[in-house]
Amino acid sequence: MISKNSKKILAIVGAACLLSLFSSCQKNSTTEAPLSPLEARGKGVFMSNCIACHNPNPSLDGSIGPAIAGSSLELITARVLTRGYPPGYKPKRTSGVMPDFPQLKNDIPAIHAYLATFKK
Ligand code: HEC
Repeated sequence: MISKNSKKILAIVGAACLLSLFSSCQKNSTTEAPLSPLEARGKGVFMSNCIACHNPNPSLDGSIGPAIAGSSLELITARVLTRGYPPGYKPKRTSGVMPDFPQLKNDIPAIHAYLATFKK
């Protein structure tokens, strides 16, 4: 038979569990906003084509490629299609190692949208 006191303890433990569940949900929604379909597509393209050189966290420098979070559409287009830079742009590195990816022509807006979800 459950005593009055243990019922109280159960109620408190239950409330604490609910509270921790709730606060962890809140934490997730503030740190990781869900990606839009375009951003999610960009993430897939980035993960399969770019992280050999760039950091999987685009806000950080990679071993070969620099941080590219928040790169402009112009810059991404120039790099990915022609290995170039927009006029007047000062490159972060000058190794010349990055190849072009002409097959990703239609994915550039998605890559741009994904990289824009990170702070520079
Ligand atoms: C083989 C390695 C490699 C791969 C793969 C690669 N990059 Fe790079 N990337 C570099 C390097 C190295 C630089 C710096 C320029 C240099 O040293 O020539 C760079 C520079 C850049 C820059 C300009 C950074 C700045 O502000 O100066 C952008 C934007 C960029 N890469 C995007 C991408 C994207 C998007 C992909 C995937 C589609 C990609 N890169 C794949 C090596 C790579």
